[in-house]
Order: sequence, then C-alpha cells, then structure tokens
Amino acid sequence: MNKIKAGIIGMGYIGESHIEAVRRIGLCELYAIADTNAELAKVKAGYYGIEKCYNTVDELLNDSDIDAVHNCTPNFLHLEINKNIIKSGKHLLSEKPLCTTYPEAKELVDLKKEYPNSAAMVNFNYRMNPMVQEMKSRIANDDIGDVRIATGSYQQDWLLYDTDYSWRLEPEIAGNSCCIADIGSHWMDAVQHITGHKIVEVMADLKTVIPIRKKAKKQTETFTSNVPTEFEEVEIKNEEYGAVMFKTDKGATGVYHVSEVAAGHGCYFNFEINGSKASLRWNQEENDRLWMGFRNGDNRYIIRNPNVISAEAKPYTSLAMGHPEGWNDAFKGNIYAFYKYISDGMKGEPVFSTLEQAAYIVKLTEAIVKSSKERKWIQII
Ligand SMILES: NC(=O)c1ccc[n+]([C@@H]2O[C@H](COP(=O)([O-])OP(=O)(O)OC[C@H]3O[C@@H](n4cnc5c(N)ncnc54)[C@H](O)[C@@H]3O)[C@@H](O)[C@H]2O)c1
Repeated sequence: MNKIKAGIIGMGYIGESHIEAVRRIGLCELYAIADTNAELAKVKAGYYGIEKCYNTVDELLNDSDIDAVHNCTPNFLHLEINKNIIKSGKHLLSEKPLCTTYPEAKELVDLKKEYPNSAAMVNFNYRMNPMVQEMKSRIANDDIGDVRIATGSYQQDWLLYDTDYSWRLEPEIAGNSCCIADIGSHWMDAVQHITGHKIVEVMADLKTVIPIRKKAKKQTETFTSNVPTEFEEVEIKNEEYGAVMFKTDKGATGVYHVSEVAAGHGCYFNFEINGSKASLRWNQEENDRLWMGFRNGDNRYIIRNPNVISAEAKPYTSLAMGHPEGWNDAFKGNIYAFYKYISDGMKGEPVFSTLEQAAYIVKLTEAIVKSSKERKWIQII
C-alpha cells in the first residue's frame, strides 16, 4: 500500500498534536514539516526524527512527493496558505477556523470546486470523540425523540490573568473574535453535527473581561502559564467571554456560553440535547460516557464499550472499556477520518467537517459578533 505523504505547516501548540496523530495512522506517513521560525522547526524535527524540515510554505508545497498538507498556522494566514495548498492540487487539512471572514471563506469554497480531485477538511476534532459519534447515532435513531433544545458551554481559564496573552486577542491575527471563533466554533460545529440542525438565528452578548492586558515583549507559547518579566500594556478588543442564544432551521432553540477566563477549567466542553422523549449529555472532561435522562424512567450513564458501541462510533475507539481514551485519541480519530476518506477514493459525504460547513461556522461567528454589537437577533441568510 502506498502511504499518503503528509506535510505539516506550523510547529506551534497544535502542530505537535498533528505530528503525533499522523504518526499513529497507518494510512499516512509524516514526510515533512515547515515553520517560518527556523529554530523551532529544527527543534521539532530533531525531537520527532523528521528528515525534511522547511522554513517556508512554498518549499513544502513545491515538494512533489507530498500528497496532503496540514495548515496549523494562526488564523489570519489561513486564507492565503489554504488557497496555495488547494492550488497545488494537494489534499488540504486546515485548522479551524477556516479563515477570519465569510467572504474569505466563500473564496476558499469556490476555489476548491475547481480542484475536485483533492480532499479538504477543517479540523473540528471533537466530532470524532467516540461518544460524540454515539450521541449522533442515538439522536438519528430517535432515541430521544424530536430535538427541542440544545444547551452547554466551553470553558477554559488560560486567559484568566492580565499577564496572560495570545494572538487570539488581536483582531489583525485572529479575526474579530477571540473565544467564539476559537472554542465557540467547536461548540457550534459539534452540536450541528450531532443534531443535523443548522443554527439560523443568533442573539449574543460578548464581553472583553480584561480590557487592558500586559503583553510580553518576548511571546510565550499558547496555554503556558509563564508570567512575562518585560511587557507592554495593550488595549484588548476581542472577547474572552460570550453567551449566545440561537434558533435552528428545524425549530429547535438553544443557548451556550464560552469563556477563556473561567478559573479551574482546562477544557470543560459540554452539551446537552433535550428531546421530546429523553435527554443526552456529553462532557469532554468525562469523555467516555453519555448521560441519558428520562422523566419517567431511570436516568443512566452509557459508558464507552467497543463491543456494543454504534457502527458510526466504532472506527474512532480502540481500547477496551475502562481503559481511558482521551483528547489525543479523538483528535487522531478526526485526522484518521480524513485519510480514510482519501484512501477510499473520496466517495460520499464525509463525516469530518467540509469547507462548506466550516465556512458556515465563520458566517455564524460574524453574525454573533454583529448581534452583540447591535444588541439584536441576527438571522443568518
Ligand atoms: N483543533 C483544535 O482543537 C485547535 C487547538 C489549538 C489551536 N488550533 C488552531 O490551530 C492554529 C494554530 O494555533 P496554535 O495555538 O498552534 O498557534 P501557535 O502560535 O502556537 O503556532 C503557530 C505556528 O505557526 C508558525 N507560523 C506563523 N506563520 C507561518 C508561516 N507563514 N509559515 C509557516 N509557519 C508559520 C509560527 O511560527 C508558530 O510556530 C489556529 O488556527 C488555532 O485556531 C486548533
């Protein structure tokens, strides 16, 4: 079997998870990495024993041996780099968000149509947690009846102090949203994916909780708690907290909130779906189980068990029941879905997020920012 050769651009926080995922999938081979930070690229190449290490996107794209390219750069670079990957004819695996504005997203979707022989995915990795797939399967099988209400949150604390800083707070790099684009995008993608509903109306309240932050003169890595010694004070425009009410195209309603200043939370990502017969809830911090609730019956936990799990969830779980699988395993599952789709000849509707679906998340993010500014409901058309 010819393995699909992968190149990964961007060796920061998430780039490493991509390296580890690719290394664990038999269908593909980690062939090269690239980062404009030559020193960082060299360190990562050495640590992971990667022979080919480039310092520019062009060098990696000009390597004709590479079949698929992962884009793990900051958001503002996604448009240009994703465009170049698509035009190279190689398969594209972009980190989320797809890009920073909807016109850019549409440009990418339109461009991709001219290259039907390559695949494209945006990395909404939570989809491939086995119990998220299990939830999707049970909702499709009518186990909870008609979907009426979706609620939940995604909470983290890595921006809690005024000495915490990230490019995600800078509109020029992240786009006009910090936590909605960063983690609200995951919430909306996951809930739309499992329910089959589309969010079509939003009413939001976003808040910049810490309006002045201390930005380190020398940047620290994302999610580190290192306190800078030399810094400058900068005004913050993007939000670290947001609450969103929404309505869906199939008549359901819901509300979620996201925060990156919620002390004690690393990855408290959860959603509950209330149907006409029962409820289902998943929480990333106890990711091996679903809570199922009834009005007239015993509430219960459904524990991950590869022997009885649904066919939809089965490809994304491997360890026996009781052996903890975690974030990295679900992450690998999403990337596996991409390579499996390519190796199966790109037939049918992929289970991972397409460019069209990710473009819609960018559209929702823009509508949420607008709704909060204008203090009104916004319909997504
Ligand atoms: N799917 C997830 O759960 C998840 C989690 C974290 C981050 N992300 C996404 O991944 C992307 C990167 O985030 P991060 O936290 O890893 O950022 P980061 O700042 O830690 O890393 C970005 C890397 O890109 C490199 N880079 C910048 N410009 C480049 C260029 N022109 N060519 C090559 N390399 C370049 C930087 O040197 C840096 O090493 C973002 O879009 C983010 O939203 C996704």
